Amino acid sequence: MNFPKDFIWGAATAAYQIEGAFNQDGRGESIWDRFSKTPGKVLRGHTGDLACDHYNLFRRDLRLIAGLGVDSYRFSIAWPRIFPRGSGKVNSKGLGFYKELLMGLQELGIRPAATLYHWDLPQALENKGGWLNRDTAYYFRDYAALIFQELGDLAELWITLNEPWCSAYLGYGSGEHAPGIRSPQGYLQAAHNLLLAHGLALQAYREENLSPKIGISLNLIPQEPVSQRPEDLKAARLRDGFQNRWYLDPLFRGEYPRDLQESSFIGSFVQEGDFSLIAAPLDFLGINYYSRDRIGADKEGRPVKYPAERELTAMGWEVYPQGLFDLLSRVDRDYGPLPLYITENGAAFEDTPQEGRVADFERKNYLKEHFAQAARAVEAGVPLKGYYVWSLLDNFEWAYGYERRFGLIYVDFKTQKRILKDSGRWFRSFLKGSN
Ligand code: FCB
Repeated sequence: MNFPKDFIWGAATAAYQIEGAFNQDGRGESIWDRFSKTPGKVLRGHTGDLACDHYNLFRRDLRLIAGLGVDSYRFSIAWPRIFPRGSGKVNSKGLGFYKELLMGLQELGIRPAATLYHWDLPQALENKGGWLNRDTAYYFRDYAALIFQELGDLAELWITLNEPWCSAYLGYGSGEHAPGIRSPQGYLQAAHNLLLAHGLALQAYREENLSPKIGISLNLIPQEPVSQRPEDLKAARLRDGFQNRWYLDPLFRGEYPRDLQESSFIGSFVQEGDFSLIAAPLDFLGINYYSRDRIGADKEGRPVKYPAERELTAMGWEVYPQGLFDLLSRVDRDYGPLPLYITENGAAFEDTPQEGRVADFERKNYLKEHFAQAARAVEAGVPLKGYYVWSLLDNFEWAYGYERRFGLIYVDFKTQKRILKDSGRWFRSFLKGSN
């Protein structure tokens, strides 16, 4: 596999999934604390109270990151550690933690990529309507501005939002994620407020005149038609509209997808000037890729998901490496030219440690095959600059709690012992060879 010399390899995590320390040093409550403690929301009632206890063990984890040999580490900042009530008084201990983490990375020569929002909205803001409330976008701007002023130069990449589709749809549409609201229409409003939040944070960033780069991470899922029948093509295009173009078009074209505007009620929440903020130029786009969906039309022409054709991961997601190449090429063609990063890619499989070893050959194969597709894209001229594996550590996998493991490093959640899995060893030797 050929990658350019300056290609960035990394591993990724997110605050609520690894930090634990939910009430330490003045951290406020987040919507995930509330949601995970609501019976029936998370598998086996798991919560992020302790998770990987990374907040307390981060020095140890920094050594593991360095040991892997990655160029970069992607993590997220917990808004409720900085503003325990969403706005108002700053919690200096929370800020101090991220400063230490960033400095620790720099000392080790690891380039930090920091995400401002990976789903852990302060509960105090949810109490005022959360992402259904336009004000939340302005609170986010204030939080972002503070982070940029205090830590702006310490990261190399800044990511405003992680996967606004998940925050909006899973949080306010289907209710599978925090805050667990089911509002088939409200979720588009939430999506808009998230995009606005991104635009406002981006504006705040530019005002600081910082040199690191800034972008956003989208979870793009190719919606592949199961046949070339016009009904199937139309159904797949419709799903692609709500899944992918609903975020790509506003960010890069300053409008919601033209073919979907009639079927929605966007007029009720879009205000003048929003799109000039949302579509302001980005330094890069982060793409999180895991799988594809196979889509056809039912008798009424409505899109339906078809079963996968290949192996599934423990999440039930089809292993489809080719989709990564297709996706990168498509984004570059339709929305480029723009530097791209894969800000997440990885897989959950059942891992059982045996005599201190985790033989996760499926994960290794998954990564290898996806790396090869990324190499193909680079060769085809796609400006792909880097690749982050999800995840550094096994962690709190949202509604699945600790029952799904994505880590390169195995975590025994009872003892907090970490074991580098075989996939991690493979990644480490891959990095040695490529650097
Ligand atoms: C992504 C999330 C990340 C992780 C992976 C498996 O959607 O960004 O936090 O849960 O999926």
